[in-house]
Amino acid sequence: MSDQAASATDLFEIIRTTRSMRRLKPDPVPNEFLQKILEAGVCAPSGGNMQRWRFLIIRDAGIKQNVGAFYKHAWDEQVAPRYRASEPAPGMDRDRFRRLLAAAEHLAAHIHEAPVWIVPCLQGAAPTRTAGSSIYPAAQNMLLAARALGLGATLTTLYLGFEKEVETALGLPADWHSYAIIPIGYPLGRFGPVRRVPLVEVVFEDRWGQRPSG
Ligand SMILES: Cc1cc2nc3c(=O)[nH]c(=O)nc-3n(C[C@H](O)[C@H](O)[C@H](O)COP(=O)(O)O)c2cc1C
Repeated sequence: MSDQAASATDLFEIIRTTRSMRRLKPDPVPNEFLQKILEAGVCAPSGGNMQRWRFLIIRDAGIKQNVGAFYKHAWDEQVAPRYRASEPAPGMDRDRFRRLLAAAEHLAAHIHEAPVWIVPCLQGAAPTRTAGSSIYPAAQNMLLAARALGLGATLTTLYLGFEKEVETALGLPADWHSYAIIPIGYPLGRFGPVRRVPLVEVVFEDRWGQRPSG
């Protein structure tokens, strides 16, 4: 286990430090770790406990190259120009925003080098909010499990700009859809606390806009 693995019992510390880790080493992820991550994934709830999910592991260099090229296209043509023209995320100064874009740019250029990806999938023609709510809890569990094991990961969806092309390259059957690509590997940087706006700005009680009394 890497020196960045967290104490398995310290759930709140794991939650607080599960950042998107976009700079990854190419070193392989041990199978038993991948297994633990997937087991954490399937511990997640799904509507009616139907568990209609499938998790496609991608290690194949050719598939990663192929999909990675679409990811980079989507970043270069659709997403990066939009982000570069927009204001920083809430509570984020320009310098931090610039570093976030640099990290996202790095991932766009190197996503195929991550040793392993997990692609959470669901069956059904139209991905909807209802469908998503039965798969993203599994994705978050996997991000937390990866972090607990000292592995970096990022939930990515920007490849959906080329959804059809990517799902063909991933070999998904026609009625199955991917909901994310999660590249996983040992991080080059260190885990650190996530940056979020304070609770007081986002929590209301009883009436929309009313601050909690407690
Ligand atoms: C629905 C969703 C889609 C995302 N898609 C991407 C993506 O395609 N590429 C990427 O680099 N990060 C992606 N992210 C990561 C977010 O940019 C990141 O979680 C956010 O900036 C907060 O940073 P942190 O995770 O380091 O705290 C996505 C996150 C979510 C929840």
